[in-house]
Order: sequence, then structure tokens, then C-alpha cells
Amino acid sequence: MSRAPTAPGPEPTPLLGAIPQLLRFGRDSIGTAGRLFAQYGPVASIVRAPAHIMSPRGKFVVVVNGAALNREVLTQHERYKMYALPGSFYPEESDIAHARTSAGKHGRATAERLRPVQRTLTGLFHVNGDEHRRHRRLLQPAFNKTRIDVYRDDMVALTTRMLDEWRVGEERDVHADMTELTLRIATKTLFGEDAGERGVSLARMMQQWLITMFSPGMLLRLDVKGLPYHRWLDLTRRIDDETAAILRDKQAAVARRAPPGPIAADMLSMLIAARDEDGSALAEDDLIGHTGVIFAAGHETSTNALAWTLFLLAEHPAVANELVAELASVLHGDAPTVEQLGKLPFLDAVVKESMRVLPPVPLHPRIVAEDHELGGHFLPKDTELFLSIFHMHHDRAIFAEPNRFDPARWSRIKPSVYEYNPFSAGPRMCIGAAFATMEIKIALAMLLQRFRVERTPGARIDRRVAITMAPKHGLPMLVRRNDGEWAAARRSLPAVRGNLREIIDLP
Ligand code: HEM
Repeated sequence: MSRAPTAPGPEPTPLLGAIPQLLRFGRDSIGTAGRLFAQYGPVASIVRAPAHIMSPRGKFVVVVNGAALNREVLTQHERYKMYALPGSFYPEESDIAHARTSAGKHGRATAERLRPVQRTLTGLFHVNGDEHRRHRRLLQPAFNKTRIDVYRDDMVALTTRMLDEWRVGEERDVHADMTELTLRIATKTLFGEDAGERGVSLARMMQQWLITMFSPGMLLRLDVKGLPYHRWLDLTRRIDDETAAILRDKQAAVARRAPPGPIAADMLSMLIAARDEDGSALAEDDLIGHTGVIFAAGHETSTNALAWTLFLLAEHPAVANELVAELASVLHGDAPTVEQLGKLPFLDAVVKESMRVLPPVPLHPRIVAEDHELGGHFLPKDTELFLSIFHMHHDRAIFAEPNRFDPARWSRIKPSVYEYNPFSAGPRMCIGAAFATMEIKIALAMLLQRFRVERTPGARIDRRVAITMAPKHGLPMLVRRNDGEWAAARRSLPAVRGNLREIIDLP
């Protein structure tokens, strides 16, 4: 048994041990981590007992907050590793071997059922050290500035298509709309035009797969018909088969084109064509894993950033008016070009401030690879560690009145990448950061030049955090013409109901 971390924290309860505290963290990671930091300091044990959240191999769980600690963890790549996301479902080779010997007994998944799970969860999140560096190098060209500029036209076309369906006076779940928009953008940019409806149907399966993965019924890990785990394994197999089929078609298309023809403007074609210095390419297993992870990492995050920003604008009329005025003066009703995106400083400040107060990924994990000390506390190998982006973004020494949504602050402050890091920092920083920023800015700029949105009276706004932070009951909003009446609309509404109020100052 490993020595426990010396980081202070609450004691386990006599009967249920670590369970109540783990459930508390699962239900409300932001609130629970905040209480732990306030009571025990910047490196705190979730509970002073063996526990795991991310990986079945995890031994203890700590939460960490602060710029210096962020730097220490995020730059020491070999010491603080990533594990497949979410690791509790990731089957290691030993699990697969065990599944083979116990083949399907007592509702256990067989090796054949687990293998596709392993492939689908093996993307960038699951590689470390030199292997991670190699994969990042191969993936990077698909995310470079020049490449991302090519995705701009798709983003504009798909946003236009969504907005053309909006009608003044109707109520819409804006979170659902943003989910559909980012799904369409992810599908088009990942799989390309030629994948057509096959790409869309694969993306929908992946979306369903993510929803099922985070449903409470998944705690019962039985591969028995009718149970969520069984459905999830079925879905994983279908995703694996369909991704492999699209991949093979693309491989054939890439082979026909090269050399020296241009590579199609979708990420998958780029990844297929990517070569190391020694000429080696990504294997099929890797390509399937990267596709799953890029979709999982890139879809819900951008959705939530967009939805929260629209909510914040509706609650802060002066900010909304200033933003709409900036958009009109630079864009005159058109969609932004790549060049114009650089000439919208207030839009930039609004997006930054939105991801500061309501970061789409509030806490992110690492696993400790060797015994050592962090912030004066001993951490044994296999401790799971959650860095809090949310609490860093609310450090009042850097962000005065941290719960206030105040985009104007960005003309006065210049935090370091370890103080403000919605996309994390260091060698594992989000590879899609520039893509996401462009997607969010284009969608906001286009939407706000056509419409004003206002919260539906009576809507309850609660936060739900499961890796990403989303509005728990969606975001019902009324669509209005772009009439500039943000302030009058806000005055006529009752105060916001729901637990979002606990983490942000609202009028
Ligand atoms: C507002 C939107 C987004 C936010 C807030 C966000 C945030 C993050 C964060 C916090 C990480 C973890 C980094 C770490 O472990 O240190 C991450 C990783 C990652 N993100 Fe994003 N992300 C967003 C959009 C995207 C998009 C659009 C894509 C792809 C198109 C993407 C692809 C990835 C990938 C592949 C990784 C793994 C990187 C690695 O381990 O090397 N993300 N993201």
C-alpha cells in the first residue's frame, strides 16, 4: 500500500469511507474544490483515504490551485501524466487478457467487446512523453493558423444555415442550437465534404456515446442487454466500424491525390497524409483514437463557451450594446473575414472574459507518475490530481471582483498562461484553441448582427459539471430582432433562478 499524500483534507466517514466525499465532488466539483481550498489550502486531498475518479488504477485524489503550482504540473510532462478520458472506462491490455480468460461470465464484457473501446479512447489524451510529442507533431499541421483559416468558410456557411432557421419571436433552446452548430462544424472540418451524411451520422453516434458515457447507469458495469453499459459497448463498436470505413475511403482518396496533388481541406485527410521525419504515418488504431478524441474534446467545449457567452450578454446589456456597436462598425452586417477577426478587440475581450468566469473545462486531471512533493506535500505515484482552472480564474489578486463579468478588465490586465488558462498551458495545451476561438467569434459576430437574445422568464439556470460545465436544463431564450433593446429587456425580467448565481454576480 502506498503512503498517503500529506495534503490535508476531510477524514473519511466511519461507515461509508470516501464515498460521500467522492459523490459530493461528482455532483459539484467546483463548489467542493472551492470549499477544500478555503479550508485546507492550495493542495488539498478530496478525502484522507484511498480513492479514485479518473482511473481505476488511481490511489488518492487531490485538488490543486495556483499559478506556480499550475506551472510546476503543466510543464513537468513526464511526472504528471494524462490518462485516457474518462479513464475509468479505458481497458488496459491486462483487462483485455482477463476478459479473454473470464469470457463474458457474470455479465462481464468480453475481450472482443473491449478492444474497440480501447481504440476509440486512445487519442492524444492517452499518450505521454515522447509518444505524445510524436503524435502532437503529426497532428499539428491540421491545426496550424493557415489551415484553420481554411475552416473559416465552413464555419460561416454552417452558422448562416443555423441563423436562417431562427424566427423573431420564437423561443429556442440556445444550448441545443449551439450543440448542433458545433457538431456540424466538427463534422465538416473533421470528415470533409465527401463523407457527407455518413460523417453527420457518425458524429451523432459519437454525441450519443458521450451522453451515455456520463450517465449514472454506467456505474453498473454489466454487459447485459437493456443496461447503459451494453448500449455503450454496442455504440462503441458501431463508431469503430464506421470510423474505420470512412478512414479507408479517405485513405484511398489521399492515395489517389498524392503526390503532388493538394490534400483535401479536412482534418482526417491531413492526419492520414501526415508523415514523421522517417516517413512513418499514423497507424489505423491511432487515427481512430485521434478522431474520437478530437470530436469529444472539441464539440461540447465550444458549445458551452458559446451558450454561456450568449447568456452573459443577455444579463449584461451595457456589454452587449458595446459589442453589437463594435461588430456593426467593423463588419457592417457581414460575416467576419480572418483579417477582420483581428480587428474586434471588444469581441476578443468578451470571449476571454466569458471563458474566465465560466470556463468550459473548469478542472482538468493528471496522474502522478512517481513519488514526489508538490507545494510542500508528498504525493505518491498514482495520485490523481485535478488542477482547477475555475479557481485560478477567480483569484482576486489577479482578477479584481472575480465573480463579475467585466470584459473591460482585459484592457488593464495581462495575466500569464498559468494564471488565465481556459485551454490549459504547456506541452499538452489544447491543440484546438485557435480553431475554437475562431469558431466562437464567427458564430457570435454573425448571430449578434442579426438577432438579440433574451432569457425566457422563469428559466432556471443551474450548472452541471462533468469534465465540461454546461447549463443543466439547456438555455431557453427568446429570439428578438437586432433592435438594441438589451437593457429594456433585462429590466423587465425577474432575477435568474438556479445555482449559477453561486459562482457569478448577476443583476
Ligand atoms: C472553448 C473550447 C475549448 C476549450 C475550453 C478547450 C479546453 C481544453 C483543455 C483545458 C484541454 C486539456 C489540456 C491539458 O490537459 O493540459 C484540452 C485539450 C485538448 N483539446 Fe481542447 N478545448 C476547446 C476546444 C477544442 C477544439 C475545437 C478541439 C479540436 C478541434 C480541441 C481538441 C483538443 C485536444 C485534441 C486536446 C488534447 C491535447 C493533448 O493532450 O495534447 N479542443 N482542451
